[in-house]
Amino acid sequence: MADYIYTMEIRLTPDQQRGVTLVQDIARAAGMNIYLTGGAVRDIISGLPIRDLDFTVQGNPLRLQKDLERAGATIAAADDDLKTLYLVLPGKVRSEISMARTERYEKTGKPPIIASATIIEDLRRRDFTVNAMALSLNPGSRGLLMDPFNGAADIEAKLLRVLHNYAFVEDPSRLIRASRFAARFHWPLEERTQARFASAKENNYIEYITDRAIGYETEQLAYEEDPLHIIRVLEKEEWLNVLSPHWSTAKVDSAGLGQLLKTRQQMNELGYTPDPAPAVLYFLTARLGDKDIADMRKLIPRKDLVEAWRDLEDNAKDLAKRLTSKEAATPSRTWKLLSEARPEMVLFLAVTARQQAVAQKIKNFFTKWRQVQQKIPLAEMTELHITPQLPVYPKIAQDVFMLLLDGKLRSRTEILKFLKPLAPPPPPPPPPPPAKRGRAAKAAAAAAAAAQAAIAAQSAGKKKSKGGVAAVPAPQAVAKVEAVAAPKHKPEKHKAAKKAAKKAAKAAGKKAKGKKRR
Ligand code: CTP
Repeated sequence: MADYIYTMEIRLTPDQQRGVTLVQDIARAAGMNIYLTGGAVRDIISGLPIRDLDFTVQGNPLRLQKDLERAGATIAAADDDLKTLYLVLPGKVRSEISMARTERYEKTGKPPIIASATIIEDLRRRDFTVNAMALSLNPGSRGLLMDPFNGAADIEAKLLRVLHNYAFVEDPSRLIRASRFAARFHWPLEERTQARFASAKENNYIEYITDRAIGYETEQLAYEEDPLHIIRVLEKEEWLNVLSPHWSTAKVDSAGLGQLLKTRQQMNELGYTPDPAPAVLYFLTARLGDKDIADMRKLIPRKDLVEAWRDLEDNAKDLAKRLTSKEAATPSRTWKLLSEARPEMVLFLAVTARQQAVAQKIKNFFTKWRQVQQKIPLAEMTELHITPQLPVYPKIAQDVFMLLLDGKLRSRTEILKFLKPLAPPPPPPPPPPPAKRGRAAKAAAAAAAAAQAAIAAQSAGKKKSKGGVAAVPAPQAVAKVEAVAAPKHKPEKHKAAKKAAKKAAKAAGKKAKGKKRR
């Protein structure tokens, strides 16, 4: 059995890995078998970016809702008919958990009859071979790949192949999906699939697409890496106006979309990970009428996405207002404000800001002010023992950065004046080097150890007599401690023992000298 768990673990981001563990543990605790399925498995095997995590459980995932929320997941939507949960796992990991099911299509255009099923049965109801694989997350079979249609071979061949002849008839949204995946991966449809696709298109089966599928496919566009390319392909195939009657590439703000994706990339490089999905939908529909947009929003399953998209402009206005208020009167205050704002809002405002002052502040935040970090006076800080080991270091470094931003630390004198009161006391001097070397030194150390043992024995005797159990350190340890930190005063009670120790040391010294002479 190929070790797909290893492949999975190296391919997932740390947040996605934690997401897999979280969902897997909750499903296991509820006694449900759980599998990673669909696009996540396809992307793990093909080496393409893993966009979201699709899980399938044998049982009803809606029962897991409370446990998932307790573990930090947000439920974005719950579909009671399909028994599917749409989630955001900690670290903004988009995820879906579906019940393993069969779908029986009785009439074209009518939703299928759903029944709970095993994972293998579930894989048979899916769209393309590359999407019909499951990776077990269950104890005993963890890492086992279930691939009944040899999707792995189609990934290798870079082909999109439907599972059976009725795939497009049963679920016409697969026509849109075929175009979307072909455009994203640049994989062609396999020959027979292409023939079925053409025939379904000719017979206009797309008119039987359900509202649920329209909403789902519209939402998927928000997560595409290159949505403009996908939308152009969908327009060419005449699928775009299936999703919304007046939608076309002319309704897209392509310049804004391009700028958004560029800025998002820049933010990623600086360590910010804004979710661009709401803003992508904003630009994709920038010139659509309000009614079309409202209808579109009603069908999108993830309500958190719809809300974020709807609130974008108002939230951006608020942030712009704050950026032109007293709250952002200085560079350091602006920095603080933008650092604390949601990265999604900074991203959207960076692209849409009309006021020069706002645009300039965001630009400074991403470029000029970051360079000021290079000016943090590390040499002076080290000189004053203000080093990263200190618990207060991050705070001091931040304060210095803020003062530098505001131009308040211009010279070395100013820097030292600020840093000096914050410096810790100088470290103690290093211990003196050992005075003697060789056998004589060893003998002296042995003598000291003997003396310490005598001291310890004496005090142990005293403690024992009081009824406690004496903790007597090993003589070598005592000798070491003695060598590093000599006691400042000699306690009276040890006088007798010390005398004995002196005698022993003298004897040992003589012995060593005698040996040397010989
Ligand atoms: N699926 C299907 N038919 C559909 C929609 C979904 O068979 N009409 C199945 C596929 O197995 C798909 C999985 O459900 O892989 C998850 O759906 P979705 O998240 O839309 O697709 P992904 O393959 O995960 O693609 P993406 O990379 O766009 O997330």
